[in-house]
Amino acid sequence: MSRIVYLNGEFIPEHDAKVSVFDRALLFSDALYEVTSIIDGKLIDFDNHMKRLDRSMTELDYPKLLDHKEIRDFHKALIEKNNLNEGIIYLQVSRGVAERDFNFPDKKTELTVTAFTQKKDLVNNKAATHGISVMTMDDLRWHRCDIKTVQLLYPSFAKAKAVKEGFDDTWMIRNGYVTEGTSNNAWIIKGSVIFTRPADNLILKGITRETVAECAKDLGYKINFKSFTVTDAQNADEAFITSATTFVTPVIKINDNKISKGEPGKFTKALRERYIQKAREIAI
Ligand code: PDD
Repeated sequence: MSRIVYLNGEFIPEHDAKVSVFDRALLFSDALYEVTSIIDGKLIDFDNHMKRLDRSMTELDYPKLLDHKEIRDFHKALIEKNNLNEGIIYLQVSRGVAERDFNFPDKKTELTVTAFTQKKDLVNNKAATHGISVMTMDDLRWHRCDIKTVQLLYPSFAKAKAVKEGFDDTWMIRNGYVTEGTSNNAWIIKGSVIFTRPADNLILKGITRETVAECAKDLGYKINFKSFTVTDAQNADEAFITSATTFVTPVIKINDNKISKGEPGKFTKALRERYIQKAREIAI
């Protein structure tokens, strides 16, 4: 069955939804996005995703912010129309359609707003049960990774290279420190302290990261927002990633080194369980 997607106020069968060849998303990657996870047919951390979207739009001088209630309503409608119990909603906002020009167009240009659902097993899946492997690569992205834009060619390249070389993902390295995964935040655990990079312009401040940080505190762990190297990670007790599509997923191998004997660590497992419990509590 084909999905119903959202395009500028309308719900349309996926094959009939079309955008202009002049859309700035297509010409300049001039578009922002959010991915919100759904469990039990409900949105997780929706308000925080909207706050981050506002911030991205403001940072890039978008002409106006969108109404959160309207976005929530069409997210809810997409869940219902597509009978989505578990998965994600991808939301994209582009600066709209304009003659090709590097300068931003007139502020009166209408934004292009699209959204679609994807079914995905978020709670029970192979990666969560068995853990994932990551390789490392230089982080060659621009220096505004804090803005969630659709300029994703380098992360996509890094992910494809990882898969080609038999890994699940790539952790990117800048100036000797791990920044993040291709589409997730990176963490390690040493004793009772968890380390993750402070949120600066070189990583995306994950919404899942914030909620996971609260869960870690609930479980009695200290969080140190401090950058770590690949060697720190390879010597860690446990390692994991977080994102809306992976929740908390164990990392069991970094390059050729096994982490926590090549099996998901017990704290990572507990944190994942606590996160899923909390996600269910806060879902709307
Ligand atoms: N990616 N870092 C990067 C580079 C990301 O692309 C993402 C999310 C995250 C985690 O953010 P959050 O916890 O808010 O999902 C960190 C989404 C899932 C994606 O591009 O599909």
